[in-house]
Amino acid sequence: MYYLTYRPNTIEELDNSHVRDTIANLLQSKKLPHALLFVGPKGTGKTSTARIVAKAINCLNNAFSGHTTSYDPCNTCSNCTTITTGSSPDVVEQDAASNRGIDEIRRLIREVSFMPMTSTYRVYIIDEAHMITPDAFNALLKTLEEPPKSVIFILATTNEEKLPTTIISRCLRIPFGAAKKEDIIHMIERIALHEKLTLTDEIKDLIAMYSEHSFRDATKLLEELVVQKKLDFKEAQVYLGIRSKDSLLHIIAGKELKDAIDWIDEFVASGGNVKHAIEDMLQKLRIYLVKKATKQEDGIDINLSLREITQLVKLLHEAYNLMKISPIEVLPLEIAVVEFYNRKHV
Ligand SMILES: Nc1ncnc2c1ncn2[C@@H]1O[C@H](COP(=O)(O)OP(=O)(O)O)[C@@H](O)[C@H]1O
Ligand SMILES: [Mg+2]
Ligand SMILES: [Zn+2]
Repeated sequence: MYYLTYRPNTIEELDNSHVRDTIANLLQSKKLPHALLFVGPKGTGKTSTARIVAKAINCLNNAFSGHTTSYDPCNTCSNCTTITTGSSPDVVEQDAASNRGIDEIRRLIREVSFMPMTSTYRVYIIDEAHMITPDAFNALLKTLEEPPKSVIFILATTNEEKLPTTIISRCLRIPFGAAKKEDIIHMIERIALHEKLTLTDEIKDLIAMYSEHSFRDATKLLEELVVQKKLDFKEAQVYLGIRSKDSLLHIIAGKELKDAIDWIDEFVASGGNVKHAIEDMLQKLRIYLVKKATKQEDGIDINLSLREITQLVKLLHEAYNLMKISPIEVLPLEIAVVEFYNRKHV
């Protein structure tokens, strides 16, 4: 799996340029705060970066241990390797989605006073930190403010607005933001080099466009295209559900149900990804919806009323959810289209 193989293991490998610089400066300053807060959408490298920091400050072969001038982890010493495999006794990764109560946090607070066993620092990585319950947060406050010198907390969250401000104010906040197109392309090129793939700029753009600002989605998409042998731009477009002309949406807006069903049939037969096709339509419909609702009708190149647009959005949403449980992947989409025609022509 690319997204595991190419998980960044050094600061250098972080393709998110802003985070890369921030972390590099922080480590070089050697004044690491005792609590960090990583904020950003999924797949933007929060967990990867937390592990890199944990390794860097505990590495036995870098500037922190006085061996080289590099602040990056060596990834070969015993501390680095046990952190990578998740078996270090000093680096605790806790998923707050499943350990969110007061008892779990109390246990964590008790443990904090133990000295590190093999490393310089004990590092607590708390993922999905916004899931922690209010009383558990309260219990954590004091420890977060003044932990023992050998302890560092790294909280990660996709929903900062759900974190108490008292927690946020005790951490150094590092925004990860949505992954930028050029950073995603940088990552694609890094993987392509290792995998000896020849990719055109067009394909890289297409993957970046489709990855919804997530490095993880981009790696998965690239792998999917490689496995499916769809690295030719035209084929990739069809596969991802974007047809340059006569998109499914335009056909649905037309008169003939048969045309739409035929399109879907051919799309699936040529290996098209139904999930992406629906996502693509929903994205376009959303734009139409906003424009119609605000009466800015310029650029609307489709013949659908506001009512029809909302109906179609609802039906496609339904199909999208049903797809996950349907034994025939494309069936919910076909039903949605038939249903739409039925309602349109009564
Ligand atoms: N900054 C990045 N540079 C390169 N790849 C990344 C980056 N961030 C994430 N990835 C890719 O996405 C995957 C998931 O990243 P992860 O650190 O788990 O993100 P998060 O914790 O923010 O959801 C990684 O295994 C890697 O393949
Ligand atoms: Mg994560
Ligand atoms: Zn090391």
